[in-house]
Amino acid sequence: MEMSAGRSVVCGISFQERLAKCHGSQCGFCTPGMVMSIYALLRNHPEPTSEQMIAALAGNLCRCTGYRPILDACKTFCKESICCQRKANGKCCLNQEDNLFDNEEKVSTSLFSADEFQPLDPTQELIFPPELMRMAENQPKRTLVFRGERVTWISPVSLDELLDLKATYPKAPLVVGNTSVGPDMKFRGVFHPVLIAPARIPDLNVLKYTNDGLTLGAACSLSLVKDILTNAIAKFPEEKTRVFCAVLQQLRTLGGEQIRNVASFGGNIISRKSTSDLNPVLAASNCMLNLASKGQRRQIAVSDIFADGVGNNTITPEEILVSIHIPYSRRGEYVSAFRQAPRRENALPITNAGMRVLFEEGTDIIKDLSIFYGGAVSTRVCAKQTCWTLTGRHWNEQMLDEACRLVLKEIALPGSAGDENVDYKKTLMVSFFYRFFLEVSQSLKTMDPCHYPGIPVEYGSVLQDFKTRMPQSIQIYQDVDPSQSPQDPVGRPVMHQSGIKHATGEAVYIDDLPSVDGELFLAPVTSSRAHAKIVSIDTSEALKGAGVFDVITAHDVPAANEFHFSDDPEIIFAKNEVICVGQIVCAVVADSYVHAKQAAAKVKIEYEMLEPVILTIEEAIKHNSFFEPKRKLEQGNVDEAFETVDNIIEGEICIGGQKHFYMETQSMLVVPKGEDKEMDLYVSTQHPAVIQEIVAASLGVPANRIMCHVKRVGGAFGGKILRTGLLASVAAVAANKTSRAVRLILSREDDMVIMGGRHPFMAKYKVGFMNDGRITAVDAIYYINGGCTPDESVLVAEVSLLKMDNAYKIPNLRCWAYACKTNLPSNIAFRGFGFPQSGLVTETWITDVADKTGLSPEKIREINMYKKSEQTHFKQTLDPQNLIRCWNECMEKSAYYSRRTAINEFNKQNYWKKRGIAIVPMKFPFGLGTPYLSQAAALVHIYTDGSVLLTHGGIEMGQGIHTKMIQVASRELNIPMSRIHFCETSTTTVPNACASVGSAGTDVNGMAVKDACQTLLKRLQPIIEKNPTGTWNDWIREAFKQSVSLSATGYFRGYNEYMDWEKGEGHPFTYFIFGAACSEVEINCLTGDHKNLRTDIVMDIGCSINPAVDIGQIEGAFVQGVGLYTMEELKYSSEGVLYTRGPDQYKIPAVCDIPEQFSVSLLSPSQNPYAIYASKGIGEAGFFLGCSVFFALRDAVTGVRNERELKKTFALNSPLTAEQIRANCADAFTGMMANNEASSSLGHICVDDKP
Ligand SMILES: Cc1cc2nc3c(=O)[nH]c(=O)nc-3n(C[C@H](O)[C@H](O)[C@H](O)COP(=O)(O)OP(=O)(O)OC[C@H]3O[C@@H](n4cnc5c(N)ncnc54)[C@H](O)[C@@H]3O)c2cc1C
Ligand code: FES
Repeated sequence: MEMSAGRSVVCGISFQERLAKCHGSQCGFCTPGMVMSIYALLRNHPEPTSEQMIAALAGNLCRCTGYRPILDACKTFCKESICCQRKANGKCCLNQEDNLFDNEEKVSTSLFSADEFQPLDPTQELIFPPELMRMAENQPKRTLVFRGERVTWISPVSLDELLDLKATYPKAPLVVGNTSVGPDMKFRGVFHPVLIAPARIPDLNVLKYTNDGLTLGAACSLSLVKDILTNAIAKFPEEKTRVFCAVLQQLRTLGGEQIRNVASFGGNIISRKSTSDLNPVLAASNCMLNLASKGQRRQIAVSDIFADGVGNNTITPEEILVSIHIPYSRRGEYVSAFRQAPRRENALPITNAGMRVLFEEGTDIIKDLSIFYGGAVSTRVCAKQTCWTLTGRHWNEQMLDEACRLVLKEIALPGSAGDENVDYKKTLMVSFFYRFFLEVSQSLKTMDPCHYPGIPVEYGSVLQDFKTRMPQSIQIYQDVDPSQSPQDPVGRPVMHQSGIKHATGEAVYIDDLPSVDGELFLAPVTSSRAHAKIVSIDTSEALKGAGVFDVITAHDVPAANEFHFSDDPEIIFAKNEVICVGQIVCAVVADSYVHAKQAAAKVKIEYEMLEPVILTIEEAIKHNSFFEPKRKLEQGNVDEAFETVDNIIEGEICIGGQKHFYMETQSMLVVPKGEDKEMDLYVSTQHPAVIQEIVAASLGVPANRIMCHVKRVGGAFGGKILRTGLLASVAAVAANKTSRAVRLILSREDDMVIMGGRHPFMAKYKVGFMNDGRITAVDAIYYINGGCTPDESVLVAEVSLLKMDNAYKIPNLRCWAYACKTNLPSNIAFRGFGFPQSGLVTETWITDVADKTGLSPEKIREINMYKKSEQTHFKQTLDPQNLIRCWNECMEKSAYYSRRTAINEFNKQNYWKKRGIAIVPMKFPFGLGTPYLSQAAALVHIYTDGSVLLTHGGIEMGQGIHTKMIQVASRELNIPMSRIHFCETSTTTVPNACASVGSAGTDVNGMAVKDACQTLLKRLQPIIEKNPTGTWNDWIREAFKQSVSLSATGYFRGYNEYMDWEKGEGHPFTYFIFGAACSEVEINCLTGDHKNLRTDIVMDIGCSINPAVDIGQIEGAFVQGVGLYTMEELKYSSEGVLYTRGPDQYKIPAVCDIPEQFSVSLLSPSQNPYAIYASKGIGEAGFFLGCSVFFALRDAVTGVRNERELKKTFALNSPLTAEQIRANCADAFTGMMANNEASSSLGHICVDDKP
C-alpha cells in the first residue's frame, strides 16, 4: 500500500476500483476508511468469508450509502454463495426474476458489470518491503524514548526496566492500544507528561497453557485473545471451555475490529471502566491477575478489583499487570456473558453481565454462584449477597424468583448524569439472569434428560443472539430503450464522477487543501451556559499559550455581527448574552489546531445566569416562547365531523431530534488575497451564495470581493447552509483581523455541540373515525423545538403541516404548527424538512385507529388512501395513481400477506422473540414553495480542443449531481461523458445560485445545463449542417474560426409555486414522488434488542437519469430514517448541555443495522413533465420510509401485548429504542421495577398493565 498526499491510499488489490464501480461511495468521505478495512482483510484473507467481511466493516460508519453498495463490492471477493437459498428450488428468496420478466417492461437488476473489473492478479500485489522486515527483526532491543513538546514517551524492552520506570513514574499510564488513555487525553482534558509503552516486553505477550487453564499476556490485543480462544475451543472438550466461550461471546461485539486489533486485554481490565465487557465475565469465572511491581509479585482475582479499596485488593500505582489466567471450566460448571448496547456492534454496553454456576456433582444444587454486572453503574457490581443466599438451592423457578428479588434489592443503581434509564438497566439485570437460568436449565436437560425437564420449546429461540449476516439485496429498475444511442448515458447506472477518486483518496476535501503560507488554525470558544449574561471574557491566559496569535471576539467584526432574516437575529459571536450552550463567544487563532484548542480551553468567561432557561417543548409552551408566525391549515368542518363519528381517539407522540452526523464536519479555509479586500473562501457548504452574502455583510465589503468555492462536500443533509455561513464569518473575521489565511475544521465534538439538527417534535392529535375504519376528522397541533434562533424553523413547521396528510384523504382536518423558541442550539434543515416527523405522527394515528377498530393497519391505510384525482388539504390537485401502484407493487413484491401468516406462526412458536411487519405508503410532495428558490443557472464552455468545462449552481455532496449534470450535457451535446469535465461550484462562475436543498438540485440545475447546451448546439447547428459527417472537433474548430462564441450560460426560472397561508390554500408543490416500504423485524422481548430482517421498497421516481445514483439515494435516506426512528438519541443535561457528543455516545446506523434482505424497485417509468427528462427529485423521499421499521417494531410489540393480554392501547415515541421496546413488552421483570417484587412465578408472564 502506498500513502500519498493527505488521505490518498493506493492499494494493490482492486477493492478501490470495485468499490467505485459498485457505487459504494457517495460523498466519498468515508470511502478511504472502508478501503483500509477491506484492504487489511484481503491482505490477510484473499478469499474472505462473508462473515469476515461484515466483521471487518463493523467499525466503519457511512452516513450516505446505507452500506448496501459497499457490501456489494465486498461480495465480489467472496467465493461462497451469498444467496439465502430459502426458496424450495434453492434460489434466493429475493430473486424476483421469475416474476420480473412476466410483464412487458424490460427491467434490470444489475447496477454494475463485473466484466468491467480489472482481473485479480495476486502477483501484482504490493509486498511488505523486506528491508523493513529485516530492519525490524535485526533491531537491537533497546529502550526508546521520544520527547515531544509536552509529553515523553518511553518504550522499555524488559519487565525489570518497566518496573523500574513504574517505580520512578508511578502516575504514568502504560499505553498499549491507547484506546482508553487516548480518548481521555483528547476529549476529557486528562494530561500525562510521561507515557510508558510496554508492548514489546515478552512477559506481557505470553501465551501459556497450564494444567488448570490458559495464561495470556496483558499486552495481547483483543483480536489475538479472540483467535487464541477460538482455537482453544476447537481443541479442548466443551466441558473445559465454557469460560473461553463466554469471554469469546463478549469479544465478538466488543468495539469494532479496528479497536480489537490494538486494544489490549490488560488495558480493558485495568482501565476498570464500568463499560468493560470483559471484567464481569472474567470476575465471575474466577480469572486471576498476575501483578508485579519492583521486587514484588502477587496474584489477585479479577473479582477483587470489583471490591477495589477493600483489604489488599487495590492495585497500587507502581504495580503493573503482567498476565491474566483464565481457568478451564469444570464438570457441572456453566458460564455465560450478556450485554445490551444502543447498537449491537461497536457500542459500549448499557448493561452487561457475567454469570457462573457450579453444581454439586450430579445434581442441580448450587455449590457456587457468581453474578457480576457492568455497564449499568459507575462501578462494576457483584451480587455477592444474592449468590451466598442461593448457594445450596435447587436450580428451579423458586430459586429464579428469589434470585431476581435479591439482585434488585442488592444492587442499587444511582442514575448517572444524563441517564434516566435506571429501570431499564434493572430490568436487563434480572432479564439476563433469567436468560442464564434458561441456558443452564437447558444444559442440565442435555446432561440428564430424565431428571431435568429443560425449557419449553417456545422459549428456546431467545438463547440465540441476533447475528449480523451478509445482507442480500436486489435493485430493480427499468432498462433504457434499446433504440437509445449507446453513447447517451441518460437512464444508465453510471458510476459517480468522483467514485474512483473517493476510493483512492485523491478526492480533495477542505482539510486536504495544502496549507497556505502563514496559515492560522481557529478553535472556537463556546458558551457553557444555556441562557446567561456575559459578565467578562478573560483571554489573558489564552494569549500566553504556545503558538497563539490572537483571540477574536464580536468587537473584531467590522460590520454586521447579527443578521435579521426574521424578527430574531442570527448571530456570529455572542456579545452580551448567550442563548444556548455551544454558542460561539470568541475564537482563538494559533499556528496549529492543537495550540488553538489548548488556548481556547484557557479563555475564562464569567456568566450571570438569566431566567428563564427553556430547553424543552413543554417549557416553551409554559413560557409562551415561540417564533412567529404560527401556522394553521384547515379543511372541511372539523367540529361538525367529530359530532358524527363512531369513535374518537386522542393521543400524543414525541419525536426526538437528530444530528446530521455528516462525515466531514463543518470545514472552511479562508484566504485573504491582500488586494481590494478580496477573499477566497473554500467551504464545505450546500449554499455558497449565502456564505458569500453573510461573510461580505460581516466584513462590510461588497459581495463581489468574496469568492466562495466548493469542490465537493463530505455529506451535508441540510446541515451546511445558514449556520455554515455564520461559521465562515467567524473564520473570515479572524482572517480579516490577522491578514492571514484561517482554517476552521470543527472537531466532531464541537460540531455536535455547536450545530443544531433535526427539530424535536411533539404532536397532540384527536382523530374521529367510523367503525369501518374511515377517518373523517383530525384535529392536531404540532410543536417543533426550533432552538435559540429562527433559522428555517417556521418553514419546517409549515412543511410539516403541508405534508401531514401523507397518503391519505382526510375530509375534515385542522392542524396548527408552532415553532418553539428555546435555549438549545438553533435547529435547522435536515433531509425531509419536517415531513419525517409529521408523517410519523400521521402513521401513528392510523395505527391507533387500527388498534381501536380491530382492523389491520394496512386496511386502515388502504381505506383512507387517496384514490382518485382530488384535492389535498391545501387545495392542490393530486393524482394518486402512482401512489396506488407503488402500494400494490410493494404488497406483491414483499409477499405481504403470506409473510404476515408466517409471522403469526413464528410468534405462536416463540415466546421471547417476536416478529412484526408493517407496510407504509408515502406521498412526498416536491417543491420549495416559492419560484425564486428554484431558479438555477449553468455555465458551459467548449474549448478549441473539443473538451467541455461545465459548471452550475448545484453542490456535490454525495447525491451525484455532477455525474447527472455531465450525463445531461453529454446527451444534449451528443458527445461522450469523458469529454466533459466539472471543476467546482463557485460564486465566480454562477452567481446567486440557490441552495442545493429539497431534492431539487438535479431538477433545476439539469434544466439550466440543458438550456446552456442547447444554446451552444443552436450556435453550432449551421456548421454541423454544412459538414454533417464531420467530427465534434471539426465543428468546434470551425466555430472558433467563424468567431462563434463557445461559451454559454443556461437558466431556469424556477417552478411556479405559491402558498397563501391566510387562505390556507395554494400550489406549493410542483409534483409528487410516491413510494411504499414494507419492513419485517424480530425483537428480543427480554432485552428490547431487535434485528431488521427484510425491507422491500417500491418508489416512483419518474424516469431515472441514473438508477445507481437514485437507488443509492433511496437506500441511504432509508437507513438514515431508520436511525431517526429507532436508534439516534440525543441526551441533554437539565442545564442544556449535550451529552451525546460523538460516535461513542450517539449511534447512527452501522452495517449491523441494515435489513438482512433489502430490495428496492423503481416503478416503471411514469411521465413527469416538470423535471428534466421526466425524472423526479429523490434526495429526501426515501428517508420517511425508514418508519416502516418503526411500525414493524410496533407490530411485534403488539404481538407480545396481545399474547399477554396487556392493554390494547400503548404509545411509542421516536426513537423506538431497545429501552422502549423492553418496557412495552411488559412481564414479571418489568413488573418488579415498581416494587422490586415478583408478583407471580417467573416461569409465566406477569401482567402489570392489564386492561
Ligand atoms: C471506539 C471504542 C469502542 C470500544 N468498545 C468497547 C466495548 O464495546 N466494550 C468494552 O469492554 N470496551 C470497549 N472499548 C474499550 C477498550 O476495550 C479499551 O479501551 C481497551 O481494551 C483498553 O486497552 P488499551 O491497550 O487500548 O489501553 P490503553 O489506553 O493503552 O491503556 C488503558 C489503561 O490501562 C492501563 N494499563 C494497560 N496495560 C496495563 C498493564 N499491563 N498493567 C497495568 N496497567 C495497564 C493503562 O495504564 C491505562 O490506564 C472501546 C474503546 C473504543 C475506543
Ligand atoms: S459516502 Fe460514506 S459518508 Fe458519504
